[in-house]
Amino acid sequence: MNISFSGVSKIFEPDIAALVDVNFNIEQGEFVYVIGQTGSGKSTLLRLITRELMPSKGVVAVGGFDLRRMRSADVPYYRRDVGLVAQDFRLISSLTVYENVAFVMEAMSVPKKIVEERAKDVINQVGLWRRRNFKPAQLSGGEQQRVAIARALANSPSLFIADEPTGNLDFHTSAEVMKILFAINAAGVTVVMSTHNQNIVNSARQRVLELESGKLIRDEKGGGY
Ligand SMILES: Nc1ncnc2c1ncn2[C@@H]1O[C@H](COP(=O)(O)OP(=O)(O)O)[C@@H](O)[C@H]1O
Ligand SMILES: [Mg+2]
Repeated sequence: MNISFSGVSKIFEPDIAALVDVNFNIEQGEFVYVIGQTGSGKSTLLRLITRELMPSKGVVAVGGFDLRRMRSADVPYYRRDVGLVAQDFRLISSLTVYENVAFVMEAMSVPKKIVEERAKDVINQVGLWRRRNFKPAQLSGGEQQRVAIARALANSPSLFIADEPTGNLDFHTSAEVMKILFAINAAGVTVVMSTHNQNIVNSARQRVLELESGKLIRDEKGGGY
């Protein structure tokens, strides 16, 4: 699914301009970093794509469809096709790794057999199958983040959105998480991730969208921080 922002502004009442006249197109299969300082509008941009927020002005379209015109009954179907790793990803502490991942599919009434296969698949993909029976508290921060990624992959999304997925991780652990995100992208999934980590952006050059005070000040293929 391609993503397009046309003249998109987001004002939080009364007067916080989180995004100002933002324009860009992301094609299916691209990998894009959204960078900028804290408060520059990165999370707001991602939350417009996931339709957690609506623009104050302009059009956000995904797969050619204006998200504002989506009926609320269709939103859950849309969200199923968008894998989301939020900044404050929350795993359910009483459930194991396996159960945290299976849970999101069970919530969608996916048949049990498919839940089992798919959960095994995505937990393997993030390298945690041996830890499948551990609870979140028994895992490192990087491992917890990988569970959040597996959970977001469970419904086979065609678009993957990650808000500062390496925000609280050290360099080595971040590199592991990035490897997983690049593998997801290599399988054809569009990946849009925000970060304020220069090392990450500079070590694997991809398209960069840079925000400053809500304005898109750079859109560069293969850019650095
Ligand atoms: N729900 C909200 N209500 C009011 N202001 C908000 C809300 N969400 C974000 N903002 C403001 O919008 C600006 C951009 O925030 P955000 O998109 O979270 O930036 P970033 O993710 O780059 O740190 C900030 O000034 C922030 O305080
Ligand atoms: Mg943010």
